[in-house]
Amino acid sequence: MTTPSRPTLVVASANPNKVSELVDLLGDRFEVLPRPFDAPETIEDEDTLEGNAIKKASEIAVFTGRPALADDTGLFVAALDGRPGVYSARYAGENATYQDNVAKLLAELGQLEDPDRVAEFRTVIALILPDGTGVTGEGSVRGVILQAPRGANGFGYDPVFQPDEGEGRTFAEMTSEEKQEMSHRGRALASLELALEQAGGLLDR
Ligand code: IMP
Repeated sequence: MTTPSRPTLVVASANPNKVSELVDLLGDRFEVLPRPFDAPETIEDEDTLEGNAIKKASEIAVFTGRPALADDTGLFVAALDGRPGVYSARYAGENATYQDNVAKLLAELGQLEDPDRVAEFRTVIALILPDGTGVTGEGSVRGVILQAPRGANGFGYDPVFQPDEGEGRTFAEMTSEEKQEMSHRGRALASLELALEQAGGLLDR
């Protein structure tokens, strides 16, 4: 009898921070392959997280001929009517850095006090097969946007996002394991795994 091999997943993201978070979370059960270096870039022009995640995963699944996993994340700030939301990566402009985006967010919120700095990270993760079938999962975490960055870990908006469950620490003040226990991405993956179970055998085709 041969030992069943782990199903293979290609990660559609080229962001090394995200890839290492996903490998930490999935590496035990799946053989996680990186995005091929010559894969064409997906234009994230959908107006929902779900639309962008499905588009990214589908394009990589078709390109590689293997199941592909993609996530799309947005930071939704109540006082800004949900901005930057789906446009979180390009908030401060087309080639904005993490620092540019954080600086713009802090400038827009100005001196607003805590109750008005409520925000939510939301992630949708899509696992799509080359034939276009697949499943999605969603996760979110609520918190506040601080007045100034704190902490050196993580990426993106992590230094200014203090989750309600984080005992006063920002995501950038947590280890990767601590962040994942309560993060939007960790929760979206858990929800995706549930959806996968319900779709029984999707990856065995
Ligand atoms: P995307 O999912 O890569 O499009 O992410 C949109 C934006 O949200 C990017 O600017 C990311 O830097 C930021 N972002 C995504 N995930 C996280 C996270 O876990 N922490 C902080 N920022 C994030």
